[in-house]
Amino acid sequence: MTLAEHPIETPPRAPSPVHRFGTLAVHAGSPHDAVTGAVIEPISLSTTFAQTSVGKPVGDYEYSRSSNPNRDNFERAIAALEHARYALAFSSGSATTANILQSLAAGSHVISVSDVYGGTHRYFTKVALSHDVKVTFTPSIEVDISTLIRPETKLIWIETPSNPTLSLVDIRRVATIAHEHGILVVVDNTFLSPYIQNPLDHGADIVVHSVTKYINGHSDVVMGCAAFNSPDLFDRLSFLQNAIGAVPSAFDCWLAHRGLKTLHLRAREATKNATSVAHALQSSPHVVAVNYPGLPSHPQHAVTLKQHRDAMGGGMLSFRIRGGHDAAQRFCQATKIFTLAESLGGVESLVEVPSAMTHGGIPKEQREAAGVFDDLVRVSCGIEDEADLKADVLQALEKAVVGPKIGKAVNGEA
Ligand SMILES: Cc1ncc(COP(=O)(O)O)c(C=O)c1O
Repeated sequence: MTLAEHPIETPPRAPSPVHRFGTLAVHAGSPHDAVTGAVIEPISLSTTFAQTSVGKPVGDYEYSRSSNPNRDNFERAIAALEHARYALAFSSGSATTANILQSLAAGSHVISVSDVYGGTHRYFTKVALSHDVKVTFTPSIEVDISTLIRPETKLIWIETPSNPTLSLVDIRRVATIAHEHGILVVVDNTFLSPYIQNPLDHGADIVVHSVTKYINGHSDVVMGCAAFNSPDLFDRLSFLQNAIGAVPSAFDCWLAHRGLKTLHLRAREATKNATSVAHALQSSPHVVAVNYPGLPSHPQHAVTLKQHRDAMGGGMLSFRIRGGHDAAQRFCQATKIFTLAESLGGVESLVEVPSAMTHGGIPKEQREAAGVFDDLVRVSCGIEDEADLKADVLQALEKAVVGPKIGKAVNGEA
């Protein structure tokens, strides 16, 4: 008697209204293997699938760009965690953005928050224009959305919290006005992850992620996804997913799905660490200002209370250091646990200087209008120990701000 003759019954996928986040993260889209009973799905590397007669595949699959078991399972898990009917995975967060923008007809107009991720800004200003899609940026979308809407406006793009200034947008407020005009609202939820915020619950039509960040969480996969409820959007975006072909590999889907299963644990730790670091920075005389949605002093803290799970601030923060750009650079080189590197949302803590790194491509006036000054440092708190991260930040501040002054005084005396 082989297992194949007696396939093991797979438990039903955890349905979202019944189960909580941790249960869904572990079980949604994770059937046991029907043939072997393997608890963890195998990686399905085959690019093509046998057919019994022309156009009659043995199972559900024909060709891996169109669909693949590992991608399907990952997409099911994302849909469950974002309270969506559908999810689609792409080869990067940027490819997700590109597919959504590509779905708009030539001549369409988009309204976007000003301080979006640098690569999103680059796509909006340098690529979208080439297929005649124009983007207007605004630093205060909740206030001026009505005045910016034109007859050809089709999409509103929100990043909340934004990268790298951590400013927030009340999604419901914007979506209510957008929907009166038949405009779709997209929210980039990369900075918080579906554990802390579910934009579709607040009226957004599409939620997007750079899976590269919190969802995968281990800095070893580049991938993106979009989740939504509309069957019409599913038809349009799944067509483009296949037609453009910017799809993730089976292996990357498998890895990202594995990472996703611990998202709730990582997001809680990262939030605890970021809260502690944010308080330490706020009390330091070497810091001009701290941007962290979890601090009651954050100008839009009311949105944190309304939109985020348990008022969590997430693992990301940024701050302006005394001593300008040079001090910002010195700080990032002086940390011992935080690594100087782009990206965010992994188990390991990272620091960077957005004006010279992730957001270096945005002209200075535009950058500064969005709050991205040369002295801004962006911090991604990982899941190391809270006390170690706090001590690392404090010692790096001393070296970056006080150290050079002492050096100067000593040189002066000599
Ligand atoms: C908020 C945000 N959205 C989208 C992206 C793009 O994602 P990817 O690097 O996976 O293309 C990034 C990348 O840093 C990001 O920070």
